[in-house]
Amino acid sequence: MAVDVLLGLQWGDEGKGKVVDVLSTDYNIIARFQGGPNAGHSLEFNNIKHVLHTIPSGIFRDNCMNIIGNGVVIDPIILKKEIVKLQEMGVDVHTKLFISKKAHLILPTHRFLDAASENAKGIEKIGSTLKGIGPTYMDKTGRNGLRVGDIFNEQFHTRYEFLVKKHQDILSFYEYTYDLTDIQKEWFEGIEFLKTFSCIDAEHLLNKFINDGKKILAEGAQGSLLDIDFGSYPFVTSSNTITAGACTGLGIAPNKIGEVIGIFKAYSTRVGSGPFPTELDDEIGNELRRIGQEFGATTGRPRRCGWIDLPALRYAIMINGVTQLVMTKADVLSGFATIKVCTDYLYQNRMIDFMPFDIVNEPVIPQYKTMKGWTKDLTTLTSINDLPKELNDYIIFLEESLKTPITIVSVGPDRNQTLFRNHIKKQ
Ligand code: GDP
Ligand code: IMO
Ligand code: MG
Repeated sequence: MAVDVLLGLQWGDEGKGKVVDVLSTDYNIIARFQGGPNAGHSLEFNNIKHVLHTIPSGIFRDNCMNIIGNGVVIDPIILKKEIVKLQEMGVDVHTKLFISKKAHLILPTHRFLDAASENAKGIEKIGSTLKGIGPTYMDKTGRNGLRVGDIFNEQFHTRYEFLVKKHQDILSFYEYTYDLTDIQKEWFEGIEFLKTFSCIDAEHLLNKFINDGKKILAEGAQGSLLDIDFGSYPFVTSSNTITAGACTGLGIAPNKIGEVIGIFKAYSTRVGSGPFPTELDDEIGNELRRIGQEFGATTGRPRRCGWIDLPALRYAIMINGVTQLVMTKADVLSGFATIKVCTDYLYQNRMIDFMPFDIVNEPVIPQYKTMKGWTKDLTTLTSINDLPKELNDYIIFLEESLKTPITIVSVGPDRNQTLFRNHIKKQ
């Protein structure tokens, strides 16, 4: 059985957590393949909202195994807090969660390095979540990192000290003060806690599951426009957030990938710095933020808001090989008299329908098609047939422009606020 992939097509926060939770009834395994606690994946049922950072969004389902793959970076302090919270709610995390021995560890000094680097950048800062993601991936590719499997090694403390010393040497070049004592103690408590979980060779297990015909969904974090290679560099995260990242982040061969489910909001948001062609720095942007409650699930920062951007989405669909689309937050657009869709960019005095190399230094000017809005409240709808005509027109226009079917429309944060349009698995 092939591995399906679900990932974000914009700048993150597209609603991946909600939709993975909804789809997880169809899968035996949910596997996170990259990123770390910079992610905040929200899902909601029984009027309770849950936010997951490192744990896959299938953790609330009894039928699902959840795997943290080798491509993920793990902060033992944050992971422990996340697990304890779930255990307090009665979730049996010990039997449902499996962690790759090859996943890299975020050290307290990685967090300090992240903060020191951001401080030094001043107004040029990336707007990092300051969870130590960049420095940890740097140590991974620099071949200095510590991995989950290393915690069982008797040399672990020595190797930790060696890496911390290196970090302290680097930190001494920055004007940055820090205190390692308390956080380091908490970190080692997190390591002891981590040892009580199943730390495994996840790539072997996943490939066995594939051969056994089990159904696997790979859950992405961040979004395609934050990808280290294809995002708006340098305003990106430090991992490959695209479909290819599921192969390297789980140990799954490219020919084992099945459906690629690309998820996008009915408009656009971005948190942190970097180019955002359709950003609305006006009352409409404020309204999108207010109605959509666009505040970061990890940092609480207000998200920048704007209209949907088709050149950016086309690019993300191409890079990922998206086979079907999920549109979230359609309900947030209810009540806007008109809705704009960016169809092309004006760039260097010519019209283009793709993302050029450098939109950081040479901005693009979005070209819009204006569509009629609708007023109907969508949050109580239970059938796709009850969508207002104007929303159907919007969906069909997007589908045709993107040459990819929209199979699910989300109309609220709850599990049940999900409408299926010829989705291959449901209805
Ligand atoms: P993720 O990082 O992609 O999992 O997305 P986040 O959880 O960071 O952000 C999405 C936010 O939108 C969360 O607060 C969700 O509860 C919420 N959400 C998801 N789908 C919908 C939807 O269709 N309508 C509304 N109003 N909210 C949604
Ligand atoms: P989920 O999985 C939205 C952004 C940060 C910053 C840039 C780099 O919830 O969609 P980093 O901490 O990785 O060094 O930050 O990437 N960013 C996200 N934005 N959603 C996320 O994750 C994000 N993870 C990182 O705001 O601009
Ligand atoms: Mg999020």
